[in-house]
Amino acid sequence: MSIVLFDHAGNQCPVRSGEQKEKRREYECDGVGAIKSAIPNAFQQTADDENSCTAGATVLRPEFRGEVRFGSLILPTRYLLSPLAGFTTLPFRVIVRTLGGVGLATTDLVNCRALLARNERTMAMVESHPRDRPFAVQIFGSDPGAMTDAAQFLQEHGVDTIDINMGCPVSRIAGSGSGAGMMCHADGTISLVQQVVESVGIPVSVKMRLGWDETQLTAPGFARAFEQVGVCAVAIHGRTREQGFGGSVSLAGIRKVVEAVEKIPVVGNGDIRSVADTARMIEQTGCHAVSIGRAALANPWIFRQLDEWERTGHYAPAGTFDERLQLMVSQFEFLEKRFGSERAIVQFRKMAHWYLKGMRVRRRLRGDFQFVRTRPEFDDAVKQIREEGPVDGNRTGVLTDAHIPVPSGPIDKW
Ligand SMILES: Cc1cc2nc3c(=O)[nH]c(=O)nc-3n(C[C@H](O)[C@H](O)[C@H](O)COP(=O)(O)O)c2cc1C
Repeated sequence: MSIVLFDHAGNQCPVRSGEQKEKRREYECDGVGAIKSAIPNAFQQTADDENSCTAGATVLRPEFRGEVRFGSLILPTRYLLSPLAGFTTLPFRVIVRTLGGVGLATTDLVNCRALLARNERTMAMVESHPRDRPFAVQIFGSDPGAMTDAAQFLQEHGVDTIDINMGCPVSRIAGSGSGAGMMCHADGTISLVQQVVESVGIPVSVKMRLGWDETQLTAPGFARAFEQVGVCAVAIHGRTREQGFGGSVSLAGIRKVVEAVEKIPVVGNGDIRSVADTARMIEQTGCHAVSIGRAALANPWIFRQLDEWERTGHYAPAGTFDERLQLMVSQFEFLEKRFGSERAIVQFRKMAHWYLKGMRVRRRLRGDFQFVRTRPEFDDAVKQIREEGPVDGNRTGVLTDAHIPVPSGPIDKW
């Protein structure tokens, strides 16, 4: 299969094997080599704060299911990066993969019509890289024709697997019959999913919530029907659409989905922040894999920790303050190579805010960072942050929760 690399004009740049080696070398010289050499001690300490998702050696391992297969695609680990629109961009995916342990990463949700129109922003969202494998593109839409055309387009461009978004609760999407809105018309949805599956040879998965609200917990029935029409896996965020991001995840609800299918893997999702949370999710639901969203922003080392824990029963802590700062710079540099300093700085502001907040950088320095305009200003700001360190002076990297913003208020207004 050719490697998909879209340029920013939306043209495919297939990478042949010689070029692929070249690209990899280029890549190793730019960001990743730098990251690896900057973090030699990232995994050498131990601690026992299991809720911090940064270290620990005592979490009992549950019984793991066998290797995770999405159709013919065998995932390298059972720990998946959940799509987080605006955050799980190509530079972030590559950075997290460099740290290790990621079984699959998915793009942000992509409007199938915008993809077919080769919308510039959308094409940038489906951009990948030889080091970003295996990867899924998540599409949404309610028109079967547009969804199948988009799926075929992605297949032609070398995407490993396609994920259909059936969980997005935002009114603009759910209200038009896409995302979580697909839960409201079962027959049409199953038929749409079947048409997408049959239109391509690559695996197609579905990501959904438990149901529209607590009186309509339809996920188990959908999962069973999807398996029958050939879906390769279902990912289930253990909340209803009505819950938005409130309340807590229902592990019992996820378990019902696991019990509803015969063979396909079920990916449990929601509120996993640590190895202990993962153990609980797998133990109580029987799921084959887990996907992690917000905690990956707080601790991009979590996948590596989980993989190490599954293999050995132990895991090393997350990176330190300085290693995390280096990750931030490397992620920025990946972006800078593609867009130039000034555009990259603007694009990187949101991500930098979350890095620095999670790192407990003083508020004033975080604020100043948002006004940086040029690369020398960026370097100065990073230097100051490095010199000053976190507010509590603890540079070991054990973080408090990074508060990732989620929509709130009445869900119909989202
Ligand atoms: C900022 C943000 C953006 C998200 N974007 C997407 C998306 O594009 N597609 C999707 O299926 N889910 C999206 N989600 C939902 C997450 O993938 C995930 O299901 C949810 O956050 C629960 O997992 P977590 O507790 O590990 O974050 C988003 C969540 C957040 C907070």
